[in-house]
Amino acid sequence: MDEEHLLSPDADERDKSLEKSLRPRYLAQYIGQDKVKQELSIYIEAAKNRQEALDHVLLYGPPGLGKTTMAMVIANEMDVQIRSTSGPAIERPGDLVAILNELEPGDVLFIDEIHRLPRVAEETLYSAMEDYYVDIMVGQGPTAHPVHFPLPPFTLVGATTRAGMLSAPLRDRFGIISHMEYYEENDLREIVLRSADIFQTEIVETGAIEIARRSRGTPRIANRLLKRIRDFAQVQSNGMIDQKIADQALRLLQVDEAGLDYVDQKLLKTMIELYHGGPIGLSTLAVNIGEERETVEDMYEPYLIQKGFIKRTPRGRMATPLAYEHLNYPYQA
Ligand code: ADE
Repeated sequence: MDEEHLLSPDADERDKSLEKSLRPRYLAQYIGQDKVKQELSIYIEAAKNRQEALDHVLLYGPPGLGKTTMAMVIANEMDVQIRSTSGPAIERPGDLVAILNELEPGDVLFIDEIHRLPRVAEETLYSAMEDYYVDIMVGQGPTAHPVHFPLPPFTLVGATTRAGMLSAPLRDRFGIISHMEYYEENDLREIVLRSADIFQTEIVETGAIEIARRSRGTPRIANRLLKRIRDFAQVQSNGMIDQKIADQALRLLQVDEAGLDYVDQKLLKTMIELYHGGPIGLSTLAVNIGEERETVEDMYEPYLIQKGFIKRTPRGRMATPLAYEHLNYPYQA
């Protein structure tokens, strides 16, 4: 596994299979996101009592926080099937209709990265969400005519890293909008202990805390680090993960005390060394560190802002005194 991958909150194929084995199936097993869970549990219970489909749910927040897992939990709690797709996978309205056509009453349709749905497909969703039908054009030229497709009641669960990128008409059609937040250290500790138990890996509390502290509030990263540290413990020691082993492994993996990886550090160093701390535009910053603007905006920046290393100003991003201190640069205002 290369370094590029290790601390990225984005999931690759290995993560997907790892996550499948670790995924909680019901709300009661889902650690953290208390506010989201509390709200959803009420709406789920109410919908079940009325024997109706759950209202459409939009889950938004940074990558790696469990939006896909939550969609699956919702389907399990409602005791229905889930069909999954993603915004970029749907090119034409017909692709969407093909999936909608397979839905049974009450089913969940999960659309990941829903902000990347093409506009024509998005428009097909409006009537599907609102009144459970789609009208599609069949045939070409003078024989073209609309065909009316009734659909069963269903629940659309959409996931996005940025709710602001959804069009207003689409956003307005979600009855439930839930914001997923970075996890508290204590919740991540519990997640690490649960995952270690599933992996049958020995870990002591202080080891789990160390991993939790340095996982950027993100379960996907915590689980990935746990796997690497498990290997390290096995080869360098007796297999038991304690704080010392966790710390040694994390240093080797270039994860610093604050959980920042080399991309985070490169980003801050670029701001400080090349731009005197800013202000600097996001696109310029992205070019300088060789990342896509979107990657910086979705994955790196939100955590650095939350931790107080970067500040957004009307003229661009700025490194804070805390960033200087953390990276051992003298700060001049
Ligand atoms: N594994 C990854 N995320 C989790 C969560 N939120 N709860 C329980 N186990 C998890």
